[in-house]
Amino acid sequence: MSFMEPFRIKMVEPLALLTMEERIKILEDCGWNPFQVEGRHVTFDLATDSGTGAMSQDQWAAMMQADEGYFSSRSFKKLEDCVKSLTGFHFMLPAHQGRAVEHLLLSILSKPGMTVFSNNLFLTTRGNADLAGLHVVDVPCQGSPDSSFNGDIDCERLKVELEKVGPERAMVVLVVASTSPAGQPVSMANIQDLSTICRSFDVPLIMDGCRYAENAYFIKTRDNEYKNMPCKDIALKMFSYFDHVYVSAKKDGLCNTGGFLATNKEDVYNKASVRMFYTEGYKTYGGLTGRDMESMTIGLREGIDDKFLQYRVESTRMFGDILKKAGVHVIDPIGCGIYINGAKCLPHIPTCQYPAFALHCALYVSGGIRCSQVDDILKLDESNERENPKSQHILRIQIPRRVYTLGHMLHIRDIFKGIIEKRESISGMRVIDFTSSDLSAVLEPLNRKLFSD
Ligand SMILES: Cc1ncc(COP(=O)(O)O)c(C=O)c1O
Repeated sequence: MSFMEPFRIKMVEPLALLTMEERIKILEDCGWNPFQVEGRHVTFDLATDSGTGAMSQDQWAAMMQADEGYFSSRSFKKLEDCVKSLTGFHFMLPAHQGRAVEHLLLSILSKPGMTVFSNNLFLTTRGNADLAGLHVVDVPCQGSPDSSFNGDIDCERLKVELEKVGPERAMVVLVVASTSPAGQPVSMANIQDLSTICRSFDVPLIMDGCRYAENAYFIKTRDNEYKNMPCKDIALKMFSYFDHVYVSAKKDGLCNTGGFLATNKEDVYNKASVRMFYTEGYKTYGGLTGRDMESMTIGLREGIDDKFLQYRVESTRMFGDILKKAGVHVIDPIGCGIYINGAKCLPHIPTCQYPAFALHCALYVSGGIRCSQVDDILKLDESNERENPKSQHILRIQIPRRVYTLGHMLHIRDIFKGIIEKRESISGMRVIDFTSSDLSAVLEPLNRKLFSD
């Protein structure tokens, strides 16, 4: 499907254009760890699409008209109306980002010995479930028949699990779209089946709606029944099957910070409002400024627009396709982001020499590109000798919304192509210091040079 950027650009930010020699020196000084490189030295920052998008003229204009009042400001009222009409829920609370509302909701709903079932709980939700004393069990589908909706939850397995633990000790969080594996969408049929199961067991059903709008577009383009329905209506239908939803508006809400909780349960809303007062702020601002709420209101509307979503999803797919043609091992099917198998891209580097990390370093040195990872690659096993046996050595590319152009994508493709062509010259890596995580680890290329001559 063809697409074009449904906007033109009137404010620009210069790219950080450094020489390869400068980048080698910078990376060396950062312990050969691209996560440690300062933003001013990164040309293309593809580490996350969360809060990194460009705002529209309408968002900036609305921010200038914000009401910064503490109680029920004009800006809050606009956001409240927008969220209610977008989701169909009766109650909403704003928050500074998604994890704040995850924390609130899970701590309110949790009871001792409870389990959260999910298609694949996100990292921060997992942490918040842990803090609330909840046990987590993922029951993802092992791929849908034509791979259109690989984010689905396995309803049959879930039923068995619910029978085992008992409905009073369970809740379900469906991540829409599922971040892992590879940013895959969830089907409407799966949402409907899941809702029927949760209602019959009387188990709370929650949506993590981080990428609800992109998911609506996938339903529109992959399920014939919805091909003529606007994404806004598809999303409304999706929401109608859930008891509660929490959203990080930093993704599909097209704003730099913000999130919300929406529910039909007045008791949950009341409890969450009280808790929120102590941790985030009063229920009509939730830690946000009036300006933030204004940009979120407009961003939520722009983010569910069909033309925008076509550009968003199809440009990501096209970028993945051109990388594949350049010889990059992109994981199929392409969903909300691009996942690259580093071990297959650099097969001459054994996994104990961290090929995905070496590829990440090569991308930074060759083109100033920063990505992220799906899991901890460097963590050693208990004996401290073998590499993390669970690691899949996957690099993750998330594209900030409305930021990079087709010209940038073609340039990044050329950088990848150059790396693949001379891959034999890329050295494996050695860990010098691993204290807590991949983000702060210190490494070096095996022969102290990333590219051999
Ligand atoms: C699926 C999912 N849920 C929750 C979150 C947390 O949102 P936030 O970063 O706004 O706290 C994220 C963030 O990336 C996410 O991808």
